Amino acid sequence: MANILDAFQENQEAKKAIDTSKKLKIGIIGTGWIADAHMASYLKQPDIEIVAGADLIPGKAEAFFKKHGVEGVRCYPDHKAMIDAEKDLDGVSVCTYNATHAECSIYALEHGVNVLLEKPMCVTMEEAKALYKAEKASGKILSIGFQPRFDPVMQQIKKVVSTGVLGKIYYIQTGGGRRHGIPTPFGTTFIEKKTAGLGALGDIGCYALDAVLNAIGYPKPLTVTGYKSAYLGKNPNYYIWDNKPAEYADLFGVDDFAAGFVRLENDIILDFRISWAMHADTMGDTIILGTEGALRIPAKKDECWNGTIGGPLVLYQSIAGKQVETVIPREKEIEGESNFDRKIRSFADAIKDNTVTPISIDEIIYNQAILSGIAESAELGHEIEIKLDL
Ligand SMILES: NC(=O)c1ccc[n+]([C@@H]2O[C@H](COP(=O)([O-])OP(=O)(O)OC[C@H]3O[C@@H](n4cnc5c(N)ncnc54)[C@H](O)[C@@H]3O)[C@@H](O)[C@H]2O)c1
Repeated sequence: MANILDAFQENQEAKKAIDTSKKLKIGIIGTGWIADAHMASYLKQPDIEIVAGADLIPGKAEAFFKKHGVEGVRCYPDHKAMIDAEKDLDGVSVCTYNATHAECSIYALEHGVNVLLEKPMCVTMEEAKALYKAEKASGKILSIGFQPRFDPVMQQIKKVVSTGVLGKIYYIQTGGGRRHGIPTPFGTTFIEKKTAGLGALGDIGCYALDAVLNAIGYPKPLTVTGYKSAYLGKNPNYYIWDNKPAEYADLFGVDDFAAGFVRLENDIILDFRISWAMHADTMGDTIILGTEGALRIPAKKDECWNGTIGGPLVLYQSIAGKQVETVIPREKEIEGESNFDRKIRSFADAIKDNTVTPISIDEIIYNQAILSGIAESAELGHEIEIKLDL
């Protein structure tokens, strides 16, 4: 048994040799802030060539590639122009703001191009369904950019749950967020309705949901009761230390706080809340209750949403009539490679090996259904049924 476990451990850690005989031709759609991270990770891969880029803002793509010191990249005014002109792209990174995620990704898939799409997957349930159909029709890879999937601690949560030690899971409370973290310093595309569509809910709520849903095997959501608000985001006093408080408050068109009560299949309740800004240091720990045990994932104060836990996992059980708590030693960080690098590598490997992506729409569609469902239910003021009809 020990041998099997050791071998498993080695397999997990063994780094695959990269075949550089074929270089993947990659294009970047949207050359803003997160595209910098894509670019930095792509440039570390010996089998990737960045051949094209597109941005709606004139001159932005050209300046972006110059900044990264990459020459000869063909630049286009939007995703369509790029995909229409570039006939031998192996893949694209869709790094646009949320509102154009679906449009750009569907166009690429329809033209036979593999897609690494930034998170959240999209904004509305209709977009999610259209993306799902496009991915299935294309036979191409659509990988969604949830890099915390590669975080050793996030993987540890799944490993612990997968042992079955919790029994049948029936309740999860999760979420978290930031105490003071409306992302305005990077421009206003995160806070305007027309570009972001969703606020804290989509931006960091998608990760908080993924951490638990991935651990329990992504059950289907059935109904959602949602709430969202924007009291801090719309208040100029919130931005008092910024130089544009009135402008930010005026432009703020998304949620800075959201909560949802979600019924999942198999009689599981998900109790979720997420904030970009609040007058509290934490919304509490993540807790998974099962018939045989419970797992506490301690929240990190002030900022907790992206693999940032506040301490080791704790398992609660009842053994021979005694209440027992087991502190599970924290998984070690992997040196020399970020979660982001591993997300980029996983996309390249999936293209080259023609395998399924590790972060597939088959799962993320349920994540998106919850996010879009919370927004829709909050706007309607009542519970909604999730109808994906896939
Ligand atoms: N994975 C992460 O850690 C992480 C971190 C930050 C942001 N993000 C995500 O990345 C996305 C982009 O965020 P950002 O901060 O880089 O935004 P940004 O506003 O800085 O950049 C987006 C760019 O996309 C361009 N664009 C929009 N539609 C386009 C189209 N059809 N064709 C070509 N260009 C188009 C815009 O002109 C803009 O320059 C968001 O969805 C965000 O949630 C992910």
